[in-house]
Amino acid sequence: MKGRIFSGVQPTHTLHLGNYLGAVRNWVRMQKEYECIFCVVDMHAITVFQDPAELTKNTREVTAAFMASGIDVSHSIIFAQSQNRVHAQLAWILNCVARVGWLNRMTQFKEKAGKDRENASVGLYTYPVLMAADILGYRATHVPVGEDQKQHLELARDIAQKFNTDFGVECLVPPAPVIGGPAARVMSLRDGTKKMSKSDPSDYSRINMTDDADTIALKFRKAKTDPAPLPGLEVLDEKGFVKAEADALRPEAYNLMAIYAALSDQEIGAVIGAYEGKEFSAFKRDLTELAVSVLGPIGAEMKRLLDHPAEIDAVLSRGATKARAISEPILTEIERAVGFLPA
Ligand code: TYM
Repeated sequence: MKGRIFSGVQPTHTLHLGNYLGAVRNWVRMQKEYECIFCVVDMHAITVFQDPAELTKNTREVTAAFMASGIDVSHSIIFAQSQNRVHAQLAWILNCVARVGWLNRMTQFKEKAGKDRENASVGLYTYPVLMAADILGYRATHVPVGEDQKQHLELARDIAQKFNTDFGVECLVPPAPVIGGPAARVMSLRDGTKKMSKSDPSDYSRINMTDDADTIALKFRKAKTDPAPLPGLEVLDEKGFVKAEADALRPEAYNLMAIYAALSDQEIGAVIGAYEGKEFSAFKRDLTELAVSVLGPIGAEMKRLLDHPAEIDAVLSRGATKARAISEPILTEIERAVGFLPA
């Protein structure tokens, strides 16, 4: 094994294409080579009010999405964060290590709290510390996530290093982020400068993993583009990435091409080469066909799994037992380092 992976998704909504291409699909690919722990982070979800019945339903739905995408539960652990109390206990200790100044720099808090910051929950503010506890409580070596989580991972590394220095130990392992590929940042279908997000009020901004073929076709047809034909290879830099100046002019076009590249496992240059000078309408038809061929079977398998909620609950419960067995001794070591007496 090359190391231990920890990663998570909030059960606040059905998974979208950004979650799948930016995170879950990469987990599936890494699970043979790493010991894997995948968490449905329900405690993170409640940093913004969640209807309790919806939270329960979404926790099962995200679990089903992990399994339907190809996470093999005989090898990898899937569980819900609240099923292992280590996360909350370790988060408290780490809250006392992290500095207010560090949290004040977190851009995601600023975005999520918006203008009415005084009214945001305290949990939303300390959210990144709970995320650090998720990772450090398992001594995870690698964390595969989308680009938007990069700053949170840097914070987890800073917290680990400060804890080790403050207490003169090597208890906590700073994790390595695993971010990359054409889909590390999938953008909204309505505005290529905003990331695809579950909190966008327009459902046309995203492809959900449960969308049927007609809905996927409709959303891509309505996706914002421009009247110019598709670009040629001159927009690429020497590394094969779209040049920033080109991307700034047509962000929606390059986003759709990056989605195509990721879904078909190609570099974006190969997609640009194949569609140079063609009309968007033809490209969108091919993109729809490709997306339906990848997402259709996953959506169908999710529906099948969700017909048997007791089985999903059993997977989570078995996963939680394994997660506790790994993290409890680590928490005990951390508590001894801090000076807490055994219970
Ligand atoms: P969450 O639930 O917002 O997103 C889950 C995963 O999907 C990725 N992602 C994207 N990737 C590419 N393009 C997008 N438009 C896009 N939108 C979302 C995210 O980067 C993430 O990998 N804080 C985390 C959950 C979390 C976590 C953790 C992750 C809690 N504890 C520990 C890793 C390790 C979050 O809110 O992800």
